[in-house]
Amino acid sequence: MNTQSMKLIFLGPPGAGKGTISKMVTERLGLPQISTGDMFRAAVKEKTELGLKVQSILAAGGLVPDELTIAIVKERLSWPDVRQSYILDGFPRTIAQADALAEFSELDAAVDFEVKDDLILFRLTGRRVCRSCGAIYHMVTKPPKVEGVCDICGGELYVRNDDKEETVKARLSAYHLETEPLIGYYNKKNVLLTIDGSPDAETVYNAFISKIGHFLKK
Ligand code: AP5
Ligand code: MG
Ligand code: ZN
Repeated sequence: MNTQSMKLIFLGPPGAGKGTISKMVTERLGLPQISTGDMFRAAVKEKTELGLKVQSILAAGGLVPDELTIAIVKERLSWPDVRQSYILDGFPRTIAQADALAEFSELDAAVDFEVKDDLILFRLTGRRVCRSCGAIYHMVTKPPKVEGVCDICGGELYVRNDDKEETVKARLSAYHLETEPLIGYYNKKNVLLTIDGSPDAETVYNAFISKIGHFLKK
């Protein structure tokens, strides 16, 4: 597989495993991951101008306005490390974002990780994230060796502010309303690749690798 030139977007509901599978692909194949959610959370933590603007939106589980989101992705995609390859994790999330992306970058595939709503709540309420390196854990499906401590860097694990049940429900309804239409959008452009996101992460990763290999040869 030519990972030197592979521009992908990862679609799917909250908790589908976009971050988990992106990180596996980054570690194993070296593709850079661009996560808009991670960028917004970093801005909130650092209390930048952007962070102050988006803080309450993230806490409520809504979507950040298109113009802000498009601007940060456009800027990030101008860096040299993502000239040939990238995974966009969590962008685009609206038709307007997808139309904007089409104007400033080409795309090899839109990968949609399918997971049912009832599994999502289980995944997100058990999620823990490393404050230092961003590694993703789950209390049941991927517990750290020592509770509260990152296996990789020893950093502290925390619960994301938007993983509370009411906020997850708001994120899910934003997903169904604004983001799910992108599945049809990319299907029409013949770049949609659907992956069952419900098995364990290793199985999902292997299905992704085998399907993307075939898909890009077409
Ligand atoms: P973002 O950070 O992108 O959140 P999200 O889309 O809700 O997705 P998550 O990160 O919650 O889920 P994931 O699919 O990455 O799952 P993960 O791998 O962690 O966005 C946050 C917020 O930022 C948004 O609400 C919005 O406000 C804003 N935002 C971001 N992008 C935006 C945009 N483009 N436009 C506007 N606003 C934007 O896995 C979840 C859990 O499940 C983990 O515990 C993991 O260990 C476990 N798990 C994962 N896969 C498996 C598996 N196969 N088997 C068992 N357990 C698994
Ligand atoms: Mg994520
Ligand atoms: Zn860590």
